[in-house]
Amino acid sequence: NTPLRKRATAKGLIYGATSQHRILSSDKKFAARFAQECAILVPEGELKWRTIHPSPNYFNFKPGDWMVEFAHAHGMLFRGHTLVWHGSLPRWFADTVNSRNVEQILLKHITTVAGHYAGKIHSWDVVNEAIHPPHGRTDGLRNTPWLQLLGPNYIDIAFRAAAKADPQALLVYNDFGLDGAAYQDELRRTAVLKLLERLKSVGTPVHALGIQAHWWGGVTRLDSGKLKAFLRDVADLDLKIMITEMDVTDKKLPKDVILRDRIVAGIYEDYLSVVLDEPAVIAVLTWGLSDRYTWLSKYQPRKDRAPVRPLPLDAQLNRKLAWNAIGRAFDNA
Ligand code: G3I
Repeated sequence: NTPLRKRATAKGLIYGATSQHRILSSDKKFAARFAQECAILVPEGELKWRTIHPSPNYFNFKPGDWMVEFAHAHGMLFRGHTLVWHGSLPRWFADTVNSRNVEQILLKHITTVAGHYAGKIHSWDVVNEAIHPPHGRTDGLRNTPWLQLLGPNYIDIAFRAAAKADPQALLVYNDFGLDGAAYQDELRRTAVLKLLERLKSVGTPVHALGIQAHWWGGVTRLDSGKLKAFLRDVADLDLKIMITEMDVTDKKLPKDVILRDRIVAGIYEDYLSVVLDEPAVIAVLTWGLSDRYTWLSKYQPRKDRAPVRPLPLDAQLNRKLAWNAIGRAFDNA
């Protein structure tokens, strides 16, 4: 019955989840359960460009500030997500940013946002999802506005600016598709390692790899050997590892809730038991806490229209088999 945050803390680990200002400020029951289970809060969208930088010369810190307060009022840490991403860019971005002003705009954003929250952030996802091997570059980088306008060095520029603006935060490179046995995942692991090696070799201040861990039930296969070797390679670069966005999509799983929950829980436990075997791993975060609020309801709804069940608590905030599985993984770590 011990909450996940305590079971993780007992092993020197951090458990937490993402949520939103809108949710935590209106759903009191959920907010209370969140504070009970989580030792760290991740804002799901409040610190993304579209929300925090809605026009070129205006920053909207209100929702983020509210969340920092909420976290601190409940003895939780707070994460920054995210400073550089190709997603959730504001509408003004495409019209305004060009190769002449891009570096100045990026630096202003990072200096202002990371500066505003300096000292209050456990870890920043400085750069999010920069790898995409299918784009065909030898370095495996994703073809984003940042890459097009600044070249691969945009990543170094961002980490250096973040380190300057908030010297206390752990600076994270965060990406997905790094967990499975598929060839695609292997390509992504190789590209991420190459990137991290390069950043380290030129002295760019990166401190950790964030592994998103969005699993697809019935699709993603675990190859413990490959996964362990990857984690070790990352740790050998003198980097910490955080599992940053875990959830299990149940779109391809049977409708029967008991069976579905059992499969989802099994995935959490099998994956986390491998991951928590690696001493460089410092945290496990889920992308949401309760099935009441998950991006997957909208992004990966089931064909049979049954509500999705990807997270540790159900929509009524009851603990599921997945909650037990995560707890056991912490206990056995
Ligand atoms: O806030 C507006 C609201 O005013 C409007 O009425 C509504 C209409 O659709 O949209 C709301 O914004 C949505 C926002 O989530 C808040 O719920 C955006 O349309 C929607 O695109 C946005 O989606 C988020 C997505 O990232 C894009 O930023 C998801 O919630 C969020 O879970 C997802 O998170 C990403 C991580 O940042 C990176 N890793 C993958 C992960 C899952 O896709």
